[in-house]
Amino acid sequence: MSAAGNESRTDGEALMEAVAIDGPAGAGKSSVAKRVAARRGFLYVDTGAMYRAVTLAAISRNVDLQDPEALLAVAESVDISFNASGDRLLLDGTDVSAEIRGPEVARKVRFAARAPEIRARLVKMQQDLAGKRPVVMEGRDIATVVLPRARWKFFLTASPEIRASRRHSEMLAAGREIPFAEILADIQRRDASDYQVGPMKEALDLARAGQGIALIDTSEMTPERAAAELLARMK
Ligand code: DC
Repeated sequence: MSAAGNESRTDGEALMEAVAIDGPAGAGKSSVAKRVAARRGFLYVDTGAMYRAVTLAAISRNVDLQDPEALLAVAESVDISFNASGDRLLLDGTDVSAEIRGPEVARKVRFAARAPEIRARLVKMQQDLAGKRPVVMEGRDIATVVLPRARWKFFLTASPEIRASRRHSEMLAAGREIPFAEILADIQRRDASDYQVGPMKEALDLARAGQGIALIDTSEMTPERAAAELLARMK
């Protein structure tokens, strides 16, 4: 596909009816992915929520998050599922959508995201979900690792300042007042580690080179406008 592109190409293998959306925190992935999923009747899957759910389960069982074996045991013993529209996550049948957004999980989720054993397990679950029905799946490694045969692949980005200001507004709406400068510093810190290595760097490099992943800068777009942009490229 071209950089302006829409459909991804693989070497002769069949493509999946799936939309892969990668990008950093605050790029607008969730709000865009939910809209695209609703419009196309696809299942919305937030893979970050799954890493958060494993982290929440480990915290509530007092498991050492830096012990990969203990963390894997937690991941293997919990049941993670989504409601029909994909916007609520159930951990062992209980809706923990609010809890996984709390500050402690946010601070500690990197341990689960960095553990190869946890990644392998969650990637398999994500692939199983996408094998059952068309999905719009968002994360960091969807186009490159989870669904390399997705028909449509996007990398969403926005300037750090815009992403920080979106996060700031979200926090205020949730009744949490955190200084803007603190949020911006956190985003810059997360970017530094996210972009250094791993699938997100690979996805961004491919998008920049116009190789199968369309790069969309949402800095100046409302979520509606960004979703319309993806839907137009999917036609
Ligand atoms: O998108 P989020 O903030 O909910 O993601 C939570 C954490 O999980 C964040 O540190 C990035 C990581 N993550 C990942 O490594 N791979 C994914 N596919 C999704 C999220």
